[in-house]
Amino acid sequence: MRSFTGRDILSLKDFERDEFLQIFRVADELAPYAEKRRNGDLLAHKTLLTAFYQPSTRTRMSTEAAMHRLGGHVLGFSDSKMTRAGDFYQETIKDTAHMLEYYGDVIAMRHYQQGAPHEAARWASVPVINCGDGWGEHPTQVLGDLYTIWKLRGSLDGLKVLLVGDMRMRTMHSILYSMSQFDMEAMVVSPPEMMLREEFRAELDERSVIYREVDSVEKGIADADVIYVEPVIQADYTQSRVEPTTEHGVTPEAYKVTRQLLRDRAKSSSIVLHSLPRMDELSPDIDSTKHAQYWFQAYSGMVLRMALLAMVLGAAE
Ligand code: CP
Repeated sequence: MRSFTGRDILSLKDFERDEFLQIFRVADELAPYAEKRRNGDLLAHKTLLTAFYQPSTRTRMSTEAAMHRLGGHVLGFSDSKMTRAGDFYQETIKDTAHMLEYYGDVIAMRHYQQGAPHEAARWASVPVINCGDGWGEHPTQVLGDLYTIWKLRGSLDGLKVLLVGDMRMRTMHSILYSMSQFDMEAMVVSPPEMMLREEFRAELDERSVIYREVDSVEKGIADADVIYVEPVIQADYTQSRVEPTTEHGVTPEAYKVTRQLLRDRAKSSSIVLHSLPRMDELSPDIDSTKHAQYWFQAYSGMVLRMALLAMVLGAAE
């Protein structure tokens, strides 16, 4: 297995099965810090830099929380308008990355341009972690999601996953790439205009990922062990920021997961995940059901990020 020390985490395309499992094991080792709400000192001499060019609640704050839990330092920006990249100068990723590498030991970057973290990684001598790039990928989110499933189900093998939402979405790319390493099957439900793109389908076929398209949540839910939901009413991920509007419409029934569908058709053991934020595709009355695991998913994502930071910074193997 390749070492994680000094490694950029840009995509799950090239992740191997043993690497997923190794991160999960390290996450288990570090989880007591989070469970006991006690900060340790594993990364006491390290600094995380957060460079967020697009809004985030969970990804930035859980990455920062993970660093704090391990005793590390954090600095960065969550609004690029207050940096030279977002004002008159429009400073390039190259120049910004060259600066950031002097200020800390690992860079966590979210950007509205697909490939921006990859560009930063070309110029930074410290590891770069992709925290979501345009429609590209969201590797840390999906590592956390898979860790959540692994914790709840004991394995990723033998599971059928119903993917609901916009298949152009970065989480959908990362999770489908990951499935190539496990005995998993995907059922994909999306509006026609948000279907898997042709070039992405070709990549999935190359990797022997097993998936089939179904018309609606109702048609796939009975077979699903995991119901993985994303909005179809959502912001344009190629924009740095999208202002709220009252004219965004509502989610068609075919792409909604409801309490009634879960009660009438879903397996009793099925789990519902959502990376959040949600719109009307996942109604709040599901929160109180046994299926709802998205809060645990958010917690597990923080624990997983502790493992990832420790591993890329050489503090855990
Ligand atoms: N799940 C997720 O990426 O959430 P944020 O956009 O709040 O980081």
